[in-house]
Amino acid sequence: STPQNWRAADDHLAETLVGHDPALEHALAAQRKAGMPEIEVAPVAGKLLNLLTRMSGAQRVLEIGTLGGYSTIWMARAVGGTGRVTTIEAEADNAAVARASIDAAGVGERVDIRIGRAADVLPTLVGGFDLVFIDADKESNTIYLDWAARLGHPGTVVVLDNIGRSGDIIDADSADPMVIGTRDALRMLGDDPRFDATALQTVGLKGWDGFALALIV
Ligand code: DHB
Ligand code: MG
Repeated sequence: STPQNWRAADDHLAETLVGHDPALEHALAAQRKAGMPEIEVAPVAGKLLNLLTRMSGAQRVLEIGTLGGYSTIWMARAVGGTGRVTTIEAEADNAAVARASIDAAGVGERVDIRIGRAADVLPTLVGGFDLVFIDADKESNTIYLDWAARLGHPGTVVVLDNIGRSGDIIDADSADPMVIGTRDALRMLGDDPRFDATALQTVGLKGWDGFALALIV
């Protein structure tokens, strides 16, 4: 088993279970053209976000970290015509690309993009979110989890991306701010009584990573 196998197997899963999707492929092409880093969720993970949104019946979704809108489109589709997605993006240039791709995907009316640092935007939002997807700067993950708890309600689903970090999360002495932020977030999910959580490591297109899944209790 090698990273090459993981990637080929992930491609196979995506071909088998996700399939060809012009709107999503257009969104990826647009964000590549704009020079954004290739850090959006994998297709199988986008589909997971879509399924979790539908399984939980979420109507109000909050996303922290829009990037080019790829995951946003997955969740906007899932909330249906009566649902809404609020998504926060720090970079105005990214938000403009996302806006165009989300509109082109036909779900623009469901999506409110807020431009700014999430730590500044979150205090301005009205609560009541049913699902929160956190996928922004890892250094701020505990701040984002705190806001997820405040802006959610018992029953809210929280998904925190990128908890695996190629296994570096076991390094208690790491100086990497992303590792420190991830370790702090995992500890918070374990200790803070507002959350009941687990985490899964993943291998695939994005190497060795993972996500945490929490319920606000
Ligand atoms: C990084 C961020 C992500 O959200 C991700 O999914 C992968 C990598 C990063 O900043 O390195
Ligand atoms: Mg991510």
